[in-house]
Amino acid sequence: MKKKKYKINDEESVFPLIVMESSEYSPNKCVFRNDELGVWLYHANCIEFMDRVISKYPTGKFDMIFADPPYFLSNGGITCHAGKMVKVDKGEWDKSKGPELNHEFNYEWLSRCQKLLKPNGTIWVSGTHHVIHSVGYAMQQLGMKILNDITWEKPNPPPNLSCRYFTHSTELIIWASKNEKSKHRFNYEQMKKINNGKQMKSVWIIPAPNGDEKKFGKHPTQKPLKLLERIILASTIENDLIFDPFAGSSTTGVAAIRLNRKFVGCELDENYLSLSIKRLESTIKERITSFKFIESL
Ligand SMILES: C[S@@+](CC[C@H](N)C(=O)[O-])C[C@H]1O[C@@H](n2cnc3c(N)ncnc32)[C@H](O)[C@@H]1O
Repeated sequence: MKKKKYKINDEESVFPLIVMESSEYSPNKCVFRNDELGVWLYHANCIEFMDRVISKYPTGKFDMIFADPPYFLSNGGITCHAGKMVKVDKGEWDKSKGPELNHEFNYEWLSRCQKLLKPNGTIWVSGTHHVIHSVGYAMQQLGMKILNDITWEKPNPPPNLSCRYFTHSTELIIWASKNEKSKHRFNYEQMKKINNGKQMKSVWIIPAPNGDEKKFGKHPTQKPLKLLERIILASTIENDLIFDPFAGSSTTGVAAIRLNRKFVGCELDENYLSLSIKRLESTIKERITSFKFIESL
């Protein structure tokens, strides 16, 4: 069968190529794109990237944003991994710079996300207690409207080795709209349907990513696909444009492609970008195969 070719036309693209200067932080360039399905991944510092997109779209561009920012928790604590005691060290990007500077960073990236949301768009931000209270405060400072805080409960968390704390088994996800005037989308019926006909509660029990989700490599804070799929299903419709400023292994992008939404992501780390590209390519392949199957029926 002949491979279908498509021409990239940036004038008509839902998300045209964003051209930026490289900086001391990052080369700031597009490393993967598929205009047909609507997938764009940038090797970029999200602050610089968002400033550039704001200059092009000052009234907003994205229907929904999911952000999983640095948690600022890699500071020599211990945790349990595969039955062994290990240091919490997820990477340089996760080191704390102190509460004031951490909060300043959260305020800076959130203020840009707010500008980039369409008037009725919403943002979801996940985090542990190390970061989530600062995120919630910054949202209030910016005049966003907090819609819900979701507790993501992990049914099989690693045990607490020190036995001086409760086992850490939850993360919080704040869901907020651009401002008080926004008329946010909530797909109430769809949430009820996937919850066996009952109203969906704000506590979601979802296991950590399984082996299949990590078959192309590991990211230390990779989110489960099921979590992102629920978030996307709750707050967007098909063909909506979703942005993730801290893409990591691009779980948001994988979920977006599977649910027929469009995705823009940026990430600083080259290793996570190559992991992302493998995951995005494989998901696109699966989607094209399922299209062909449906067309052949
Ligand atoms: C908590 S992880 C995101 C994990 C992701 N949700 C997933 O499922 O794989 C945060 C990511 O943000 C990246 N990062 C940190 N600072 C950044 C910045 N200023 N711009 C873009 N990416 C950044 C890190 O390299 C890291 O991969």
